[in-house]
Amino acid sequence: MKWLTCLSFLMILGIFLGLALAGPYTDSIHGNSTYGVYRNSTYARGNCAHCHQMHTTPNPFALFANNFNTSVITGPYVQSDDFCFYCHGSPSVQIGGITNYDYSTTFGKAPANATTIMDAFNQASYHDLYDIWNFAQTAFPSFFTNSSNPCVACHNPHIVKRSCGYPGITFDSNATAISRPTDHDQLWGDNATEKMSYYAAGYIYQPTYCYNSTYFEPDCTSNDTLLQAQKTPDYVSFCTDCHNTSNVIYSHELGRDLKYIDWENEKHGKGPADGTISVHPPFTNASIGQYVLSCLDCHEPHGSPNLYLIRREVNGDLLYSTVGTGYGDLGYLCRQCHLDDAAAIAGAINSWEYIHHYSPDYPYIRKSCTTCHYSFPIRCTDCHYHNSTATDSWGVVRRTF
Ligand code: HEC
Ligand code: HEC
Ligand code: HEC
Ligand code: HEC
Ligand code: HEC
Ligand code: HEC
Ligand code: HEC
Ligand code: HEC
Repeated sequence: MKWLTCLSFLMILGIFLGLALAGPYTDSIHGNSTYGVYRNSTYARGNCAHCHQMHTTPNPFALFANNFNTSVITGPYVQSDDFCFYCHGSPSVQIGGITNYDYSTTFGKAPANATTIMDAFNQASYHDLYDIWNFAQTAFPSFFTNSSNPCVACHNPHIVKRSCGYPGITFDSNATAISRPTDHDQLWGDNATEKMSYYAAGYIYQPTYCYNSTYFEPDCTSNDTLLQAQKTPDYVSFCTDCHNTSNVIYSHELGRDLKYIDWENEKHGKGPADGTISVHPPFTNASIGQYVLSCLDCHEPHGSPNLYLIRREVNGDLLYSTVGTGYGDLGYLCRQCHLDDAAAIAGAINSWEYIHHYSPDYPYIRKSCTTCHYSFPIRCTDCHYHNSTATDSWGVVRRTF
């Protein structure tokens, strides 16, 4: 510990001599002289010393507070659990405070719920910071140590930019807030080969509608499919650095290892849907088999009032109800894009008889009801979950997600 403290002293000395990070850092949002870090008036806005300080804390990175409280296994979190929450939480030590919204508001323009990052994590489901910290140490040892901050697995605080613009300053799709854990020293999503349009080349990435609008995410200024896809970072490559077909990831929130994600073969990924789909615009059945979705079409990156980080606003509207543990709750997500009975046959909201019994490629004949219906509805996750190639109730092996 003594050696580390000494090391950090030298490191901070380097900071004041203006070494190392100067170029990319001054271009970053934290280093910005108009919008950057500003905790007290001793140092100019943007100075490293608003985050790093000598003397006070026994922290290997000489931060002004403990980097991460590793004794907290699950949320809810308080500010002292995570260094970043001192500014990206409330009350903020940043003079003037900081407002950050969730993805549904920032890029979907939905009415706000959480107004700080800490609020966003303190919801029904969230990326568990302990599990990330634990996983990243073994998965990404090149930059992530047991003294590291879990947010740093996805963000690099020295180069991070502001992806969504400021009021009065235009959205800049080449200023991104994220870094892939496999490429921590670069921003991800800030050039043409790091966009959803590139990932989906040969397929269609159809950005979803913004809230109450016919314009598309991520900036809600156009309904040109390709143009908007060219503005959207390739979140698939980003998320699958961790969630892929080989990493074993434990979740304390779910109490088990996570399912594998296989976006090359899943139907919402590059695997083709077959038969017909019954969908709302901007999706159409005419393009069946070609669509590739982004993880953030359905998920929040930080936290959500729904289970599994499912967004509270998808494809132009808020979900009708919260996704909890109810058997049919997942349908509140599906019906943002697929036709439930209310949309297809003037039936009930979030009933799915049309899709499974009447649609052009319905999978199930209506007879001997109780063979399948141990309840109404049957639990959606019996059949629909990532990478599912389940044997369905008729003994047919089929990919149902
Ligand atoms: C927004 C807060 C913030 C600002 C501003 C900041 N840093 Fe850091 N810095 C951190 C955090 C957090 C870590 C620990 C990274 C981790 O958890 O792995 C860190 C770690 C470091 C390290 C250790 C190596 C590494 O990259 O992890 C060095 C060196 C460093 N900072 C230098 C600087 C310099 C020089 C500046 C100004 C030019 C600066 N920092 C500005 C938050 C900041
Ligand atoms: C699993 C990866 C991941 C982790 C862990 C993570 N973030 Fe994020 N964060 C993202 C993504 C993805 C976005 C939104 C995408 C974008 O802006 O391009 C984002 C956006 C943000 C934003 C901008 C929000 C806005 O819209 O105004 C801030 C600030 C932020 N994160 C801070 C944090 C902090 C602080 C932590 C830790 C408590 C953290 N993040 C942990 C992936 C992550
Ligand atoms: C001393 C205060 C301070 C600390 C500590 C701090 N930040 Fe920030 N952060 C800011 C400010 C100020 C901004 C820019 C203002 C804004 O976004 O409203 C910002 C912006 C960001 C953004 C871009 C936001 C966007 O809207 O796209 C991300 C991402 C981010 N910070 C992540 C982090 C992470 C991760 C940590 C911890 C490692 C951290 N910050 C610690 C002050 C801080
Ligand atoms: C069409 C909406 C949709 C898209 C797109 C989507 N997901 Fe999901 N995701 C879900 C639903 C629904 C669940 C809950 C069922 C389940 O666990 O598979 C879920 C659950 C998860 C889980 C938890 C799995 C578990 O063990 O329970 C992870 C991890 C995940 N998604 C990651 C991703 C990643 C990474 C991507 C992008 C490559 C992605 N998702 C794209 C809808 C989606
Ligand atoms: C640095 C590695 C890392 C990255 C990158 C990452 N995740 Fe995760 N994710 C984890 C870990 C660890 C867990 C288990 C902890 C938990 O359940 O919160 C997890 C859990 C999840 C869950 C299940 C949450 C729950 O408890 O129900 C979902 C959904 C998910 N991630 C989606 C995503 C999406 C979408 C992205 C891209 C924006 C992403 N992840 C990027 C590490 C990562
Ligand atoms: C953001 C929009 C969106 C959401 C939300 C969504 N889907 Fe989809 N889904 C699609 C699109 C688009 C396709 C067609 C993919 C293709 O072209 O390969 C599809 C295809 C499918 C297919 C394959 C159908 C076939 O004929 O092969 C199934 C099954 C499916 N979705 C189930 C679900 C379930 C279950 C949910 C809710 C948990 C859900 N989807 C949520 C957009 C969505
Ligand atoms: C081979 C399996 C199977 C058989 C047999 C079957 N169903 Fe279904 N049915 C499903 C599946 C799967 C769904 C979609 C999940 C759900 O909504 O419960 C569904 C949905 C429904 C729904 C919508 C329920 C809701 O709340 O969303 C009704 C009503 C329904 N079936 C009636 C019947 C009746 C009546 C029979 C017998 C005459 C029958 N089904 C036989 C598989 C079957
Ligand atoms: C017994 C297994 C089973 C259950 C339970 C089940 N489904 Fe399905 N579902 C299927 C099969 C099989 C398909 C057809 C997949 C295909 O076309 O390849 C399907 C298709 C779908 C589709 C895609 C429709 C389209 O546009 O083609 C949606 C959406 C869907 N189901 C929603 C739900 C919801 C919501 C629930 C829970 C209320 C549910 N399902 C329960 C088996 C099931």
